[in-house]
Amino acid sequence: MQRVKFLTPLTSAALLLVLLLTLLRHYAIHKESPTTPSELSTSFYANTCPDFPKIARSVIRSEVANDSRSSASILKLHFRDCFAQGCDGSLLPQVGKEQGDGRSTKGLKIINNIKRAVETSCPETVSCADILALSARESVIALGGPSWTVEFGRRDNPSSTSVAAAVDAIPSPNLTATQLIESFQKRGLSKRDLVALSGGHSIGQAQCSTFSARLFNGTAGDSIDPALKSRLEKTCPPTAPNRLNNLDPSPTTFDNLYFRAVQANQSLLFSDQQLLQSDLAGFVKEFADNQKAFFIAFANAMIKIGKLSPLTGGHGEIRASC
Ligand code: HEM
Repeated sequence: MQRVKFLTPLTSAALLLVLLLTLLRHYAIHKESPTTPSELSTSFYANTCPDFPKIARSVIRSEVANDSRSSASILKLHFRDCFAQGCDGSLLPQVGKEQGDGRSTKGLKIINNIKRAVETSCPETVSCADILALSARESVIALGGPSWTVEFGRRDNPSSTSVAAAVDAIPSPNLTATQLIESFQKRGLSKRDLVALSGGHSIGQAQCSTFSARLFNGTAGDSIDPALKSRLEKTCPPTAPNRLNNLDPSPTTFDNLYFRAVQANQSLLFSDQQLLQSDLAGFVKEFADNQKAFFIAFANAMIKIGKLSPLTGGHGEIRASC
């Protein structure tokens, strides 16, 4: 006669415990992680809007050929949208109200141009958040930077980020290394990601008001090169808060010269100069010495940024205009 073996009560309890722990761990990972990678996919529009990537690429190429800074404005918008309250396009409606040099408004106009073209091919299908994510990659490529895989399926937030929430979430250029690390770690981004992503400042410009605290009286703990400081004091008198300065020596090429400038204490923003603090400096050296390593790290970190708390599935909407 065949003997059926039953589990002893002790083995059953142990198995139950392992199962419970596995479930708890799974829940904790998904609850703590601000990213939801599994809900986005590269083939999301394969049937519903296959021409979307082609349309976006062609608009970005012609815009960047006319004005290379367009790339920088779009990259900045994508980063800030994702940081504010997740990649849900909620920063965009607020951009029109922004004070300053109007560059974010220019970036938004380009996103809306793509939106209009995409709506003609496939109405009410592609979200502004997805257009922004893809445009950021195309913008970086257009200036010689790396490519990365963009997944789609983000939906737009029907309400816009409040000004107060955006100010609170988007890192200020006056943050110290410790504060920058904390701000990025809260979103699941490592110190290496922080340094690589700061390399986004390899392109574009900043207004005097964003670093004027470093000039004249100076900021405690700032290692700014004295020659750069006295040059900036001349170009940035208190009467010219919106005047523009290049963020790195080659603002229309995406390259690793930004990291060499950081090493030479010649970065424009206090927050960029803070990358020489503590163990961040090792990553600055790595990327200054090796552009390929920078490109790989930047691309990987942009993939993470693009997955910050998107609205997917039945949440959110497809906005008619960005
Ligand atoms: C680490 C924290 C960061 C801080 C404190 C910061 C701060 C700033 C500031 C103050 C400006 C100048 C804005 C103006 O003049 O209106 C700026 C510009 C810019 N930022 Fe950042 N940023 C950070 C991270 C990033 C990241 C992660 C990216 C992209 C990956 C990025 C991309 C850009 C670009 C491309 C510009 C130039 C925009 C243009 O020329 O229109 N930034 N950033």
